[in-house]
Amino acid sequence: VSPSRIRPATLDDLDELLAIEEAAFPGDRMSRRSFRHAVGSPTLALLVAPSRAGLLGYVLVEMRRTARLAHVSSIAVSKRARGQGLGRRLLRAAERLARADGRERIRLEVRADNAPAQALYEHDGYVRTGVEEDYYEDGTAAWRYEKRLKLRG
Ligand SMILES: CC(C)(COP(=O)(O)OP(=O)(O)OC[C@H]1O[C@@H](n2cnc3c(N)ncnc32)[C@H](O)[C@@H]1OP(=O)(O)O)[C@@H](O)C(=O)NCCC(=O)NCCS
Repeated sequence: VSPSRIRPATLDDLDELLAIEEAAFPGDRMSRRSFRHAVGSPTLALLVAPSRAGLLGYVLVEMRRTARLAHVSSIAVSKRARGQGLGRRLLRAAERLARADGRERIRLEVRADNAPAQALYEHDGYVRTGVEEDYYEDGTAAWRYEKRLKLRG
């Protein structure tokens, strides 16, 4: 399945978003309610990667009005589409949005035991800035990463 252009999510995407979420994360999941909230929110951007065979992934970015940082709240690619560069495309789309909104940096947390995601971030220029112990539901620590966004002009 080849992905087409990444676009903002709509309410019609909720079922597929939940299916991706359930397959991607054993716990600490986004709920239908939180996806629905993100679709209508002025401070959240929910981007999806569609294909002829349905949604293949999403990324959720939070841009609070009072913060200079953008925050990647979640990113996931369906199992059938992994390892083909889609996670990186979604992450870059999130960075473009943050840059267009004038954000100087983008931040995220990742489970200490999630090597694939850590590799994605490190290869894309993210720097590990700290560890948050006991961060996830099951007590696993989070590694915090940040990337400086180059602003134009
Ligand atoms: C993390 C995730 C989004 C990556 O998506 P993906 O589309 O498979 O990633 P890509 O194909 O774009 O890979 C980009 C880079 O990530 C790294 N990477 C991806 N999968 C990897 C794996 N299984 N092992 C090691 N590195 C991996 C590689 O550096 C890769 O670059 P390269 O292929 O040039 O070496 C995907 O594995 C996923 O949805 N996982 C479950 C949900 C999750 O953990 N989300 C992150 C929460 S913080």
